[in-house]
Amino acid sequence: MKLTNKIAIITGGAQGIGLATAELLASKGAVAVIGDLSIAKSNELKKREFSGEGSLYEGRLDVADEENVKKFVKMVADKFGKIDILVNNAGICRNALPFEEIPRKSWDKVFNVNTFGTINCTNAVIPYMKAQRSGKIVNSTSVAAEVGGIRTEASYGVSKAANICLTMSLAKYLGPYNINVNAVSPGVIDTPMTDALESADIKSIPLGRIGKPEDVANTILFLVSDLSDYLTGVVIDVNGGMYMR
Ligand SMILES: NC(=O)c1ccc[n+]([C@@H]2O[C@H](COP(=O)([O-])OP(=O)(O)OC[C@H]3O[C@@H](n4cnc5c(N)ncnc54)[C@H](O)[C@@H]3O)[C@@H](O)[C@H]2O)c1
Repeated sequence: MKLTNKIAIITGGAQGIGLATAELLASKGAVAVIGDLSIAKSNELKKREFSGEGSLYEGRLDVADEENVKKFVKMVADKFGKIDILVNNAGICRNALPFEEIPRKSWDKVFNVNTFGTINCTNAVIPYMKAQRSGKIVNSTSVAAEVGGIRTEASYGVSKAANICLTMSLAKYLGPYNINVNAVSPGVIDTPMTDALESADIKSIPLGRIGKPEDVANTILFLVSDLSDYLTGVVIDVNGGMYMR
């Protein structure tokens, strides 16, 4: 699975699943550009230390801010000449609250990052991918979207469920341009996000452990590689069997 000369944007790539993905894609030869809210503001992309075959860059990105997204994507395209891969990984989640106590502003915030962030970034790369008649987009959903979240605020699972329909709608729309749109649906993965949540019930996971960021990154690598050229509109569960379709 070589990604030599591929230009990839990984949103929310400063830690957790996004960082594991950026490092894996770069190790396969890609130029992996991390966009994350936690990175210091700068007018240019910064090169990170990376000893693998490809290279790693980073820049500040707020996926919820449409203008910021457009500028970030243009900066990547201007610097590297094209965009082959978009991993819509950035996401936020809240601890569960009784449903009727969830403030409207919390619904807005979670949707603005998890769902509109995915829409903003996808809109920004579409012109580049359409022009080159190729592209791979991977969205992030969650087991919470498929079974109803319990450990997380309802806004999280609902925003991630929207990403499933978004994935299928985009796959239909972008298929004629040879652009594949798929999604990963992690179960419980050991990242800073889950550190903040109540612990998972390992007994409910047939493979007997929670996932590692690399488990999800490996699936994303498959979805951005040539090996998945005939897959589109698909959601792949990466959950150790805790939910089976
Ligand atoms: N960890 C899990 O168990 C799990 C399960 C299912 C789905 N997911 C999804 O996988 C993705 C990655 O999860 P993770 O566990 O690595 O999360 P994480 O919290 O460890 O990392 C998320 C990253 O996104 C960044 N981010 C947040 N808001 C942003 C914004 N507006 N713009 C740009 N970047 C922003 C954060 O700074 C952070 O670096 C998320 O979308 C999450 O919902 C995670």
